[in-house]
Amino acid sequence: VTNVERRAQRLSSAFLTAYRRNAQGVWSAPGRVNLIGEHTDYNDGLVLPVAIDRETLVAAAVRDDDLVRCRSLDLPGGADIRLSDLGPDTAPGWPAYVLGVLWALRETGAELPGLDLLLASDVPVGAGLSSSAALEAAVALCAAELCGATLGRTELAVAARRAENEAVGAPVGIMDQMAALHGRGDCALLLDCRSLQVRPIPLQLDAAGLDLLVINTRVTHAHADGEYASRRQACARAAAALGVSALRDAGLDAVEQRLDGELRRRARHVVTEIERVTHTAEALERHEHDALGPLFASSHASMRDDFQISCPELDLAVESAVRAGAVAARMTGGGFGGCAVAFVPTDLTGAAGAVVRSAFAAQGFSEPDLFLVEPADGARRMM
Ligand code: GLA
Repeated sequence: VTNVERRAQRLSSAFLTAYRRNAQGVWSAPGRVNLIGEHTDYNDGLVLPVAIDRETLVAAAVRDDDLVRCRSLDLPGGADIRLSDLGPDTAPGWPAYVLGVLWALRETGAELPGLDLLLASDVPVGAGLSSSAALEAAVALCAAELCGATLGRTELAVAARRAENEAVGAPVGIMDQMAALHGRGDCALLLDCRSLQVRPIPLQLDAAGLDLLVINTRVTHAHADGEYASRRQACARAAAALGVSALRDAGLDAVEQRLDGELRRRARHVVTEIERVTHTAEALERHEHDALGPLFASSHASMRDDFQISCPELDLAVESAVRAGAVAARMTGGGFGGCAVAFVPTDLTGAAGAVVRSAFAAQGFSEPDLFLVEPADGARRMM
């Protein structure tokens, strides 16, 4: 019995206690760590996330009236609402993600029944590992299966992203929802955010003797949401100035010749980062793990200097991980805090953790949280 199966069992018992009836099933969806391709998704570009073995679970049962109830084992609060009252702005706080997904599914024409829902998650919140997309994907798959809607995984991801954009109000791209729904054990996902095509890229970490290490700086930047939105706007302005529909279509020469100052730097990050995604996927497919180091290093430098979304803690996490023997390391996710990701030779992982921790202590930064992740499958029914 795996850890997540045990958690599903416990959640099913907790459902009985909370609602005095049995759950009909338990669904799960993973968080993700992005290997490379940052702030490229909303520019119609490429990304290379890995769904990880940190999951959000939802236990559910259909009701015979039109009420939706949701509760969480981890978070206070919840919601009780009639299906007919679901809209893009029905609830504040975490229930917005759940009710937003149900609203977005109804918008696709799905005929949802009333539902009792109970959630539990071990995806760290606010760390940039997409706890919100994991929640959205688990609820989307659960609700779609319980109402017999014949929506594919990409359609569920689109609905989940709509919930996050319109019900939660976060102007995110589609990477995280696609990763949570399309994840594959032992693979990264090469995702084209324009066509929404997904190609699994085998990682074969064991064969390569590598661990995938996540370093959570535990830094959360108070203005991260505003900064994310302003990066999006800068990208849209740069695309308009270049006369393309998205920066995916811009060439580096045009960026260097026709843009100036901040707009040039922002666009240069996106255009070069999309190239790096392609090269990283190729290197992984050829098992050339040594090639990852320079690609991750230039990605991190580009995020630090051109896109300006790093912070001293993330820079130190990357620098100290590489000093400790990581073959490749970079900040990951939206930026301004959260996590770095590193490929570390298995025999160096323990020592690398100590090096990173003492580097943080020497700078007077608070202690980072380090853990290994394994590539995991996307959303699925557990029981
Ligand atoms: C956040 C967003 C994603 C993506 C990344 C940056 O995780 O949710 O859509 O834009 O930031 O790559």
